[in-house]
Amino acid sequence: MGRRVAGQGVLTYDDFLRHEEQIDRSVCGRSLEEPYRSRFEDDGAHDPTPTPYFVLEELFAYFDFHEGSHLLDVGCGTGRVLAHFLREGLPGRATGVELDPWLAQFAQAWTEGHPQLEVISGSALDLDLSPYTDFYLFNPFDQGVLQQFIEQVEAQVAHPVTLIHMSDNGDTWRYVGRSGWSEVASGEFQDYRDEQGHRARVYDWPQHYTVWHYDGTNAV
Ligand SMILES: C[S@@+](CC[C@H](N)C(=O)[O-])C[C@H]1O[C@@H](n2cnc3c(N)ncnc32)[C@H](O)[C@@H]1O
Repeated sequence: MGRRVAGQGVLTYDDFLRHEEQIDRSVCGRSLEEPYRSRFEDDGAHDPTPTPYFVLEELFAYFDFHEGSHLLDVGCGTGRVLAHFLREGLPGRATGVELDPWLAQFAQAWTEGHPQLEVISGSALDLDLSPYTDFYLFNPFDQGVLQQFIEQVEAQVAHPVTLIHMSDNGDTWRYVGRSGWSEVASGEFQDYRDEQGHRARVYDWPQHYTVWHYDGTNAV
């Protein structure tokens, strides 16, 4: 799985995973990379793969967190996004909502004792979305559920928000052309690069992301 970069040596996918696990353990006291498959495929749910830290470092630059902000990680899995929020010491609060009760319990267990973090067990579609100022989605569910989720944001959120959708390959167009939404940035991730410039291929094909601004004008 290692990929040679001219003159720069080799970094393997396993090295990358070890690096991720090291950070998990230093922040949460455990690895967040659970070999766990979704039991909720029939509800459109995807597997609980965590977002890599290097991706979060880059994408979180688009959020403008402050003491009054409240991030919702839509489908938090084991809680990697909450771990990144904690590690960076970001202002405001971060909540994860997770459909699978086992995963929600896992994330609840390690976030206990951090008052700025919260994990809600249940579907994002059953949540009141009005308190949140920022949303993060890492490929949580299929397009039918995504369509409902976007409609609920529009019906419930009456203030401007930033929404980042990572791994939106094929999903981006669900947001395009909707009233109140504008694209702030987009791009792709595929390789992890360490401080020495060594690279490991993390994704077999580039993972597209989009950063959206929604102005909150459709709420009823
Ligand atoms: C790819 S994982 C992302 C984990 C985490 N957000 C991260 O970035 O590290 C997607 C998660 O979304 C959850 N999910 C799927 N449908 C959901 C729904 N309707 N409500 C809440 N969570 C959901 C899945 O169970 C899975 O754990």
